[in-house]
Amino acid sequence: MHNALSALTAELRRLKTAGVRTVAVSDESIAALKSVLLVRRAEKQKAPPAGAVAGMDSPGPRAASREMTLASVQPDRATPESIPLPAVPTVTLPAGDKAARWAALREIVLSDTTCRAHIRPGKKVVFGVGSIDAKIMFVGEAPGGEEEIQGEPFVGPAGQLLTKMILGMGLKREEVYIGNIMNWRPELLAAAGASQVGNRPPTAEEMRYCLPYLRAQIEVVNPDLLVALGKTAAEGLLGFGTFKALGDVRGRWHEFAGKPLMVTYHPSYILREPTNRKKRLIWEDLLKAMERAEQPISEKQRGYFLDK
Ligand code: URA
Repeated sequence: MHNALSALTAELRRLKTAGVRTVAVSDESIAALKSVLLVRRAEKQKAPPAGAVAGMDSPGPRAASREMTLASVQPDRATPESIPLPAVPTVTLPAGDKAARWAALREIVLSDTTCRAHIRPGKKVVFGVGSIDAKIMFVGEAPGGEEEIQGEPFVGPAGQLLTKMILGMGLKREEVYIGNIMNWRPELLAAAGASQVGNRPPTAEEMRYCLPYLRAQIEVVNPDLLVALGKTAAEGLLGFGTFKALGDVRGRWHEFAGKPLMVTYHPSYILREPTNRKKRLIWEDLLKAMERAEQPISEKQRGYFLDK
């Protein structure tokens, strides 16, 4: 039934893109759609649905068919809940050394059918990269356009800035570990066959699904500390609703999976406003991480971005 619904939404999307605003729908089709939506709603609410589906119940102008407006039709990939997420995965790693366990985990994530169901043709599920002996693990929210092409976190514009920040810390990109909470790029509305334009933050449910994979990477790599990049990553790690503004939690130590967690801004924040004042804010958080990881810090490094 899910496939049939996907095919239907794809066709409606195609018509909408072609400029069609209304379609005639037979009573029989409406009844079939209603039953699917009722089942979904019941599954979501884990309770028997009460009443009918909004907008599908009023008597139509014609007996044999009704008109459905396409303005409300969202393609499958535009709605996060359109591909239902199963229970969060349980990760069981094989015995073996660190490298073997990491490689096994990578394989598990890259072949996860739920992750794969959320990527568009030709795009990649994204797993963490870097040193499996890293002391510092950076955690972002989700892959973007460039990341899903290359199958590597933080390789787009924000990633290039992150790489510069890491170099400023006296480290190479390959010496830290870089991961995301999400392993797929959250989908946005796009016409059939077209590329996704723009990103959206992952939902709490999506992050819950992928979190076991991040936890497992933390377990295998066993870094000294984590650095969460941006509000969404911080929410994913600290819990939704635990803070209002990023300023409430950034620059301070928290804990996730038994590891000290520093929260700072996402590099894209600096891309939007590349002032020394903003750079210094992130830099001060990174200095704290360097100190805690017992990374040497020169006087020059301590003074970066002080001239506002
Ligand atoms: N932003 C993120 O949070 N993660 C990436 O991998 C890229 C951009």
